Amino acid sequence: MNKEAISKPISNIKRGMQDLIVDTTSVSWVDGIHGKLYYRGIDIQELAHFSSFEETAALLLYGSLPNQDKLAQFRWELQKWAHPQEKVLRIIQELPQYAQPLTILQTGLAALACLERPYDNNNSANIGENILQIIAQTPIILAAAYRRHLNIPILEPRNDLSFVENFFYMISGKIPSLRSAKILETALILQMDHGFNSSTFTARAASSTLTSCFSAISAAVGALSGPLHGGASELLFEMLEDARASNDVKEYVKNLLNTGKRVMGMGHRVYKTVDPRALIFKKFLEELTPKSEKNSDLEILSIIEKEASHFFKEKNKPIHANVDFWSGAVYKKINIPSRLYPAIFAAARVVGWCAHILELRQDNRLYRPEAKYVGAIKVPYIPIQQR
Ligand code: SDX
Repeated sequence: MNKEAISKPISNIKRGMQDLIVDTTSVSWVDGIHGKLYYRGIDIQELAHFSSFEETAALLLYGSLPNQDKLAQFRWELQKWAHPQEKVLRIIQELPQYAQPLTILQTGLAALACLERPYDNNNSANIGENILQIIAQTPIILAAAYRRHLNIPILEPRNDLSFVENFFYMISGKIPSLRSAKILETALILQMDHGFNSSTFTARAASSTLTSCFSAISAAVGALSGPLHGGASELLFEMLEDARASNDVKEYVKNLLNTGKRVMGMGHRVYKTVDPRALIFKKFLEELTPKSEKNSDLEILSIIEKEASHFFKEKNKPIHANVDFWSGAVYKKINIPSRLYPAIFAAARVVGWCAHILELRQDNRLYRPEAKYVGAIKVPYIPIQQR
């Protein structure tokens, strides 16, 4: 028995790896104290205002903003991979209508991996191609998952539409307005990467074993789908409807918190102030909500935020709105169904996961932490007749 594993003091343990630095990265920095987020050193506010999905994706994957030629090349590469795989779509059609979009995404990615001829998944050229295929195929699989749920025909992407317009079109069959497309594109940019969040850590830990990108990303999708992570936005939507039905939102929030329940969309492991992404989503919701709208999502969420913030302030807990708090209400305003809120998150975060896989492969090290063993030792084996 490793003496270390027994003798190490419990105090060394950082449960949930809170505040534990396990590796370096230059993909993104979450400045939790000042409520700032930087992709490759660029403030997210600038990218949200000026950039495109493809430009920010290239920045995260390859480390710097592409020039015109490189951006055109990257757009072409993504389009080259954005053709639905018949066999994958057939598998999706065989799945039950109640299957969740992120679970179908895990299935779709694994199916894509099965279609690949055996290859060296440590060859950088193969990895480079695989990540483009994964980023391009994710919205196709997610839109197909949603249309499977509705039992309506799956739509193929169109060559005349951008990445974001196609995502919208494959979900709804409609081409979005320029404003709706810009809002969805900004939402994807805002959620592309976020330091060592649970799903990105999962992608890195899986990839550190030198498994394929498909397997590592599929594992990350599983982590994202949990209600404490990417699943919060859909649950928040249910909370919003319950609050509206209560006819006394203030009392609803107080009761929720006093009974030890969680307000979805609030709190964060790193931010000790408001999540900068939440501020951008809130501005979108204010823009999209007419002043005349009664009992609006904006109005109800504002009451929830105010009441919950007051409750946490009284308990001296630095808990504020996070990226999920306003995003669902914005998606609703641009006619994206609540079932797909976590899927939007995944279609964005897949870029960050791929960027971290590329980064780790530059100087790979197997992720294998230690645990402090607290169980019994030297226990004799008792034959079954004597138990
Ligand atoms: C994302 O990590 C990332 O970067 C994630 C993300 C990304 O881009 O990848 O930013 C995306 O996942 C955003 C978070 C989405 N999840 C939610 O909104 C779910 C609700 N939030 C919480 O469950 C919670 O705030 C977490 C999970 C986000 C963070 O939890 P921590 O850091 O583990 O904090 P904790 O659970 O230890 O809570 C500390 C205290 C507890 O009270 P005590 O036991 O000390 O008395 O704060 C309380 C908690 O009960 N608390 C909340 C709360 N969040 C924390 N109480 C009520 N409602 C909440 N939302």
